[in-house]
Order: sequence, then structure tokens, then C-alpha cells
Amino acid sequence: MSAVTRDPTDNAIFGRDDTRAVRCTVNGEPVAFTVAPYRTLLDALRHEIGLTGTKKGCDVGDCGACTVLVDGAPVNACLMLALEADGRAIETVEGLAGAEGELHPLQRQFMRCGAAQCGFCTPGMLMMAKALLAEKPAPSETEIRFALAGNICRCTGYTKIVEAVAETAKEAAQEGQAPR
Ligand code: FES
Ligand code: FES
Repeated sequence: MSAVTRDPTDNAIFGRDDTRAVRCTVNGEPVAFTVAPYRTLLDALRHEIGLTGTKKGCDVGDCGACTVLVDGAPVNACLMLALEADGRAIETVEGLAGAEGELHPLQRQFMRCGAAQCGFCTPGMLMMAKALLAEKPAPSETEIRFALAGNICRCTGYTKIVEAVAETAKEAAQEGQAPR
């Protein structure tokens, strides 16, 4: 029987070997790739685009290790199909550092506060914290803990992570800037 294909926006039925073109931006750079319709954004980032900073912890939406920003909103990349990234702006941990490689303030504070141990959760923590500070430049401890509640860390006990996010917000306030 021949493969059946329809428009991907129309409850598509795909053949096993079908691929689709995706065009989006990743960390501000235009990216184009082809992908099987069942492939997640997480796998596309890691295997099609070669950005392995975003981690696969559980692959079922439980751990937050795969958190990226899609049009500025935090998303579990393991729960989003790569096809859905078409036309969207994706931000990953690789995009946090500046053009000259200088660390993002969140990355600096994570280092300073000892907020990363094995580091597996850290890319997701950083991206979730970035989304939080974009929405709430001066979050309370409760707001930080609530925002990070879906990001699981097996190592740190969370206190230093919360401190690092709070310190980033404080530093930006002292400099009279919104956290970036
Ligand atoms: Fe996506 Fe765990 S890998 S939530
Ligand atoms: Fe190891 Fe968070 S630093 S899982």
C-alpha cells in the first residue's frame, strides 16, 4: 500500500518514512532542516541541528531538563513535535552566552552560587529562570520556587539554584536593568 500524506496542519496521516521541512530560528540564527513527523523538538535540536546543550532526562515531560523557549515561552522540548517549530523562534542554552563568549548573568550566578553539580538539569533550569525573569524581573523566593517546580534536580537541593536566580535579579536591579 502506498504511503498516505496530507497537510501537517490538518491532522496529518504520514507514511513511516515521510519527512517535512521546518524553517525556524534557533538562538537568532535561521535554521532549516527536514524531520520525520513523529520527531520531537528535543531530538531535532540534538540530532538534526547538533545542539546538545538541551538535555533529555525523562523524555515524557516530567523533569524539565529539556526546557527551551519557543517565542519566549518555556516549553518541554520532549513534548513538542519538531514540526511545530516551523516559523517559531527557539532559544536554547547555547544562546545564553554573549557574542564574545561572555556568560549570561544567570550562568555567572549559577557558577558563583554553586548551583550546578552534575549539570544535567542546568540548561533547563537556566532557560526556565530566563523566562521567569523576563516576566517578573524581581521575583520573590516563592515565585522562583514555583517557576522552577517543574525542573527536577537530583543534586543540589535547590537552595543554591533559587539563590542564583535571586542574585541575578538583584544584580540587574542594582545595575538599573531588566534581567536579560
Ligand atoms: Fe523533557 Fe524530561 S526530558 S521533561
Ligand atoms: Fe545534577 Fe541538577 S545539578 S541534576
